[in-house]
Amino acid sequence: MPHADSSLVPPEITSKAEFWVHVHDQLQNLLEDQRDWVTNLANASSLLYNALLAFRPHFENGDRAVNWCGFYLISSLFPKPRFTAVPCENQGAKTHVDTLSLGPFCGKPACQFINVSPARARGVCATAFLQGKTVLVQNVDEYPGHIACDGDTKSEVVCPLILHKGNDQVVLGVLDLDCLAVSGFDEQDKLGLEAITDLIVKRCDW
Ligand code: SME
Repeated sequence: MPHADSSLVPPEITSKAEFWVHVHDQLQNLLEDQRDWVTNLANASSLLYNALLAFRPHFENGDRAVNWCGFYLISSLFPKPRFTAVPCENQGAKTHVDTLSLGPFCGKPACQFINVSPARARGVCATAFLQGKTVLVQNVDEYPGHIACDGDTKSEVVCPLILHKGNDQVVLGVLDLDCLAVSGFDEQDKLGLEAITDLIVKRCDW
């Protein structure tokens, strides 16, 4: 099967529960034999974005089902500059441990960094990261501190990527989905996305 076809949704899939099982299966196939997180997160964001649009292109009022889908990750996962001949004044700030950096995504350009230092953190991604729990926001205008990368976004769901190491847990970053409609995501989406993030964390080397 061509890779692009993994984001198609067969017509016999009509319920959300079936949809999320289908997407999970497709992602499992896409992540086969590949453990590079950049590669896998790139395909995961594309699969989620395109499959959601294939399953329910529009809400009743015509809004698209998803307008952004992607990852923010702890900055220490990103490669450091290999060449130091040209001094980079910002280098220290950009690799700070209290920052999430923009990773693979589908949608319009988004903010590059999210501050997650407990004293200065704000927004949905920072909350999900710091609490290690999914945050479902029905109306972003009513969420104090929401960071508006796109002023048209109305609702959002953010799931943490949690790596289990023995009895310890490390939060590696978050998966963020935005919608142009209020209440664009529900509890079933949350459960589906949590199974997806669990799969992604297990199928990548970090
Ligand atoms: N709205 C997010 C920021 C990321 S963008 O939506 C892509 C937040 O409040 O953390």
